[in-house]
Amino acid sequence: MNSTESRRSQSTCLNGSSKCFKIHDPLLGFVNQYPLKSSRSVETIGVFGLGFVGSSIAAVWLRYGATVVGYDVSTQRIDDIKNQRLGGFDSEVEEALRKGIQSGKLVLTSDGVEASINSRIKFVCVPVYLGNDGKADLSYLKSACVILGKGLRRGDSVIICPSAPPGTTRDLVAKVLAKESKLKAGEDFSLIYSPERIFVGRAVKDLEENYPAVVSGIDERSLAKAEEIYGKISKKGSVKMPSLESAEFEKLAEGVYRDVNIALANELAMVCDELGIDYFSIREAANSQPYSNLHVPGFGVGGACIPVYPLLVKQSVNKTKTSIISESRRINDSMTNWLVDALKKEFHVNESTRIGILGLSFRGGIADSRLSVTYKLVDNLKMKGLANIRVHDPLIHNDEVIGPILTSDLRSVIRWSDIAIIVTDHKEYKDFDWRRVKKHLRLIDGKGLLRGRNSENNIELYGLGYGSKRPKVTEQ
Ligand SMILES: NC(=O)c1ccc[n+]([C@@H]2O[C@H](COP(=O)([O-])OP(=O)(O)OC[C@H]3O[C@@H](n4cnc5c(N)ncnc54)[C@H](O)[C@@H]3O)[C@@H](O)[C@H]2O)c1
Repeated sequence: MNSTESRRSQSTCLNGSSKCFKIHDPLLGFVNQYPLKSSRSVETIGVFGLGFVGSSIAAVWLRYGATVVGYDVSTQRIDDIKNQRLGGFDSEVEEALRKGIQSGKLVLTSDGVEASINSRIKFVCVPVYLGNDGKADLSYLKSACVILGKGLRRGDSVIICPSAPPGTTRDLVAKVLAKESKLKAGEDFSLIYSPERIFVGRAVKDLEENYPAVVSGIDERSLAKAEEIYGKISKKGSVKMPSLESAEFEKLAEGVYRDVNIALANELAMVCDELGIDYFSIREAANSQPYSNLHVPGFGVGGACIPVYPLLVKQSVNKTKTSIISESRRINDSMTNWLVDALKKEFHVNESTRIGILGLSFRGGIADSRLSVTYKLVDNLKMKGLANIRVHDPLIHNDEVIGPILTSDLRSVIRWSDIAIIVTDHKEYKDFDWRRVKKHLRLIDGKGLLRGRNSENNIELYGLGYGSKRPKVTEQ
């Protein structure tokens, strides 16, 4: 008996419950199984990595009625979920996790091998970041698969969710799992790649209702298994992809599409500003026919996904030129420089000007600041000697990088600022009654939130794409 086998035979309920019972597995004999309350629920689901994606997947399976074993390398994360310190997740995710803990159907563990032993369907939801060399850092995925592989059994299904360069599942994951488990993907267990398509803030709806799951398998059987698994939780079912690589690339292509179209929107908005034309009315009119989908401009693109995917695509090819992808990234990345230049040249901002930055999260309505444009804007302002800054966010109350200049008190920032810049499309900025501001304030709207409103009372309103500057007509 090898160490994994002996560990399996000793395996007990992770939640310490004596209600754990044994089921007969045709290959393994009797194995532990959790009591399942719902008659629909047939498997125990393992979730490896309990961040935004993993917690959302756990929540959806709990809502389905399954028992979920959640593993995270961060004991802090495990403790936070266990103790229901769940800030930052969607309310539906929080509610499902809370109920799961109370009912004992969500079992949390810092032992990944146990999590693997005790689940038959395993979702891997660890991050793929960008390394310092500008390439995908697959080390988190690799280490999660090493642990998972040690508890992998014949007949299990492994579903890889992170966005990754094409080839990752076949060339890295399958090999690591084979080495650790001595089992072969396709023959002994199902290996599936299915990218997460969720939007933080409405993850449950996205998974259950909004979109079909994009699925792929290392072989036909894995693909059929993927369809069966997602058929249980996704009303829209699944879109079957011809290969693991095509599903991996599909996810990156979605992100690249967004990045390129945001760059286009940014360029068109800047053109409109020079011409004194309102970009938003043009966008509305253009998008009234089905061939146009002009995006909303902004002072850059943040988040862990969209700015990263173009780089993952670029790293995947040697011969093909990726000019549009690269140029779009450059345009989006340069938006904060463009803003700082405009602040200096056109708004005559200097060292003593009090600058209020509205928004730290990368998108409105969420408390996620990963790769937020605001970090770059603060850096760029400081580099130009414009360091009299305060940052407001309604949902993020502490941030190590921004430090004490971050506040959640919108009124006080507005009262303090000489010039305020809306970076994030939080609804609090749209809903704020700007007419009641009792001092002269220059307000720059980077998200088209206040378009259609005039400069009123004490507020001088400008916006990216507002076309509020008069066009310079050159004399002939
Ligand atoms: N956040 C989104 O909206 C979103 C949407 C679609 C796709 N994705 C993709 O999904 C992946 C995960 O994103 P996320 O937002 O959940 O990330 P996250 O940073 O919120 O969470 C990742 C979790 O994985 C844990 N972890 C890291 N290494 C681990 C390991 N070896 N074993 C177990 N746990 C480990 C971390 O502690 C963390 O809790 C990313 O690669 C991203 O590209 C994210």
